[in-house]
Amino acid sequence: MKFKAIIFDLDGVICATDEYHYRAWKQLAAFIGVSDFTRADSDLQRGISRMDSLEVILRKCKRTFSDEEKFALAEQKNQIYRSMLATMSERDLSKSVSSTLCVLRGRGAKLAIGSSSKNAKYILERLGLGAFFDAVVDGNMISRGKPDPEVFLKAAELLGLPPRECLVVEDAAAGIRAALAGGFQAAGLGEGAKCEGTTYRLSSFADLLAIVN
Ligand code: BG6
Ligand code: MG
Repeated sequence: MKFKAIIFDLDGVICATDEYHYRAWKQLAAFIGVSDFTRADSDLQRGISRMDSLEVILRKCKRTFSDEEKFALAEQKNQIYRSMLATMSERDLSKSVSSTLCVLRGRGAKLAIGSSSKNAKYILERLGLGAFFDAVVDGNMISRGKPDPEVFLKAAELLGLPPRECLVVEDAAAGIRAALAGGFQAAGLGEGAKCEGTTYRLSSFADLLAIVN
């Protein structure tokens, strides 16, 4: 195999929670009078932390907010988002993702998660993947968000492997930049496939099988 391990982003790669982020932020935006929050704005939030994501919306808002108010708004969005996550189950794990993960593991690859989300472990449990990955690094375990490579470097360290032996799979520009900055090769899905420097451009999750062959 070309890589000993694969480190996956979670939202928008393993599951479609990127859509829930969009809907929850859209509601929050409406609450503070931002009526023109778009899918393009949501794409700018891909991969970055909750507080950085909030700033994408606040740039469109006429009034200013104190740090305390910003934390309250981020918490309000998280409550909306968590109520959506609570409806998720194993049925939300696509057949293509689950069978690809199993084939990769069968070939001997170590599999890890490198996510900016503080909800990552909860989401993995909802999907029935609570004990599946060899390492999980999430937004609670890092001090610098993507595009800083910290989350992926920590995952590689937990796996006991150097970055050059791990492939990162990402749907976000910030995530692709983080991977490349950390010395990883990066496979991009969706927005991630359009990024400059992306090592492999995927049109589907299952395309990974040909890359890591
Ligand atoms: C990333 C998402 O995975 O997690 C971002 O792509 C999100 O859009 C970030 O802002 C933080 O998520 P959470 O669940 O901690 O609010
Ligand atoms: Mg993502």
